Amino acid sequence: MAIHCYENISKNVKKLFKLDTIDTSYVIGVVDEEMFLGHIYYGALLNDYHVAHTLRILENPFIPSQYNRDRVSFLDSFPMEYPAHGLGDYREDCISIVAENGSTGLSMQYVSHKIWKGKPELLHLPAAFGREDECTSLEILCEDACTGLQAALLYTVFEETGVMTRSVRIMNKGKGDIYLTKAFSACLDMDNKDFEALSLHGSWARERHIQRVPVSHGKFSVESVRGESSHQDHPFMALCTRGTNQEQGEVYAMHFVYSGNFKVSVQNSQFDQIRMVMGIHPDDFKWKLEPGEEFQAPEVVMVYSSRGLGKMTRTFHDFYRKHLIRSSYRDKKRPVLINNWEATYFDFNTEKLLAIAKQASLLGIEMLVMDDGWFGNRYDDNRALGDWIVNEEKLPGGLKYLVEEVNKLGMKFGIWMEPEMISPDSDLYREHPDWAIAIPGREGSLCRNQYVLDFSRRDVLDHTYESIAKILRSANIEYVKWDMNRQLTDIGSACLPPDRIGELYHRYVLGVYELQERMLEEFPYLLLENCSGGGARFDPGMLYYSPQIWCSDDTDAIERLKIQEGTALIYPLSTMGAHVSDCPNHAVGRTTPFETRGHVALSGTFGYELDVTKIPAKDRRMIPKQVEMYHKYNNLVREGDYYRIASYSENHYYDCYGVVSKDKKEALYTFVQVLNVPNYRSRRIYFKGLDPERKYKVEGEKGVYTGDVLMKAGYLVENLEGDFKSRLIHIVGN
Ligand code: DGJ
Repeated sequence: MAIHCYENISKNVKKLFKLDTIDTSYVIGVVDEEMFLGHIYYGALLNDYHVAHTLRILENPFIPSQYNRDRVSFLDSFPMEYPAHGLGDYREDCISIVAENGSTGLSMQYVSHKIWKGKPELLHLPAAFGREDECTSLEILCEDACTGLQAALLYTVFEETGVMTRSVRIMNKGKGDIYLTKAFSACLDMDNKDFEALSLHGSWARERHIQRVPVSHGKFSVESVRGESSHQDHPFMALCTRGTNQEQGEVYAMHFVYSGNFKVSVQNSQFDQIRMVMGIHPDDFKWKLEPGEEFQAPEVVMVYSSRGLGKMTRTFHDFYRKHLIRSSYRDKKRPVLINNWEATYFDFNTEKLLAIAKQASLLGIEMLVMDDGWFGNRYDDNRALGDWIVNEEKLPGGLKYLVEEVNKLGMKFGIWMEPEMISPDSDLYREHPDWAIAIPGREGSLCRNQYVLDFSRRDVLDHTYESIAKILRSANIEYVKWDMNRQLTDIGSACLPPDRIGELYHRYVLGVYELQERMLEEFPYLLLENCSGGGARFDPGMLYYSPQIWCSDDTDAIERLKIQEGTALIYPLSTMGAHVSDCPNHAVGRTTPFETRGHVALSGTFGYELDVTKIPAKDRRMIPKQVEMYHKYNNLVREGDYYRIASYSENHYYDCYGVVSKDKKEALYTFVQVLNVPNYRSRRIYFKGLDPERKYKVEGEKGVYTGDVLMKAGYLVENLEGDFKSRLIHIVGN
């Protein structure tokens, strides 16, 4: 068993839970006669459970509550597992309420616990999964005796991958209604180890750039109140000891398995204690719990690494590949696709699409994806969302004809949809203006000239499902790009009663999850790619439904280096939607070699986003070779261990990363020389992840070198003439 409970450890520590994985321990204590739940330890694996002395339980001001003699100073300093609002803990708490009498304070005391093999599903929410021989769960039931509100804290340790997940279920066991105004999912209290906070930030076309700031006194938060995980911030934070690099340093990371509003915050208290909390953003959140009702908060994935960021990255990659992504495509090569968005935008018809498909099929491309503009009177982005009926002016003979013709070329067919939206200029809106999220009596703010559908309504959800399913039933469609192009505003609903409007943001996310679940149940073979105006909903919640997510609308190979570096810090390369597009690039106007665009896209899902009938012949001639490389390297890229070697965002000149097979017999390193430097004849690259004893041959070269030499003495990549040049270095061991 990876989780143990020890009784009566000391006068103050009544119970102690030790949760172990292969290389981490997490320790919780039940403290004092009042049964407070305290956090004792998280870090490298401990070989003993005698650790309760580190709670500083008898040191002033870390004094016990002593039956309320000093509860305020106790609550304000005690490391809490699930801190509650209003009774003395002035740090950022995890749960707050409005009770029937208007009061907001509460306290969560230990009641009981259970430990079992395996992991339960979370009701209506995406969550990690594992077999009984892979994970062990602990549920600690806590209660606020005054209101009857209970919280079941769920911890699951995945022994082999070294990961722990946490979530919370909150139940109203009292007699009156209770409004939850905050229901975070996880908290980590510990001493400050001179931490820096690492987070991912961005904007449209500039998603998930890495940022690192010192943790000082006060709070530092990363959050979204946009109704989606967002372009701007990412539901992730890692606390790193100062000087942490790829190989060294301690890292404590939290990642939220959720696709809506979130907040993750780190606070350094008056006693230099750190608290990191994560959960659904409390702004505009107010969930009514009638007696007997419960609320399930989403899951947080926690990773601890004592060996720097690289180890953290590989732990997340393995965990998501094994315990979060469900699609049958997870372990398969994805078809090499060509998407017509940057090729035609809205200006296409069957003839144009078939011309692209014909040419593409000759070059080895395996799937045509028809993007935005195939339905209703969608001639631009001002109209028709919600009218999911094929536009036969553009596509005479409908989808069936087009798909059959594409299939005849030996290609699969995929389609774009944006099911969550409604245009004011649409038949759907003319018929059901009340289906849009809006504040009754107030004109809703438009964004890309569209509104968001009110997924808190059963009729809207069912109608939306039927419209998308009808399309998918009508032809041999094997891939869906599910897009979402605006953020939520005007939180109001024609149906929700006033005291439940605070539920809308979360109900909306639950609606999206329900639709994707229903779609995958009916069409289990579908390859689903989530997307949100580029990468605004690239999060672990979406990964549970789709094995790949569109990374960014910025397809420029150089911009992609930063976007893909930040994304790959947590996500496996197999999840990163990456395409070769035409130049000058549509987002930044930059011209890069076709070869470099191919090399950079190869570390994602790989595909094309251009008019293959119009690009320069010399570029077109390179496509069969690129497709061949995709087939040659994709198993390695999809399943291997990722190593970051040099970062263009740090050094401003070149980028380098590698993927090494699990058996260390093969590796592929990608080197991109962003800017050439005069008088530089070569760059020395220290390969990582190899077997020091094994002998490796660099493909296309004569020499044979041990892994030890390649990692310690390095390898010289010759200077590549010009800017934006790249090289793939494939090495194979004996
Ligand atoms: C945003 C996506 O990121 C693009 O790839 C494209 O599908 C457009 N939406 C279509 O409107």
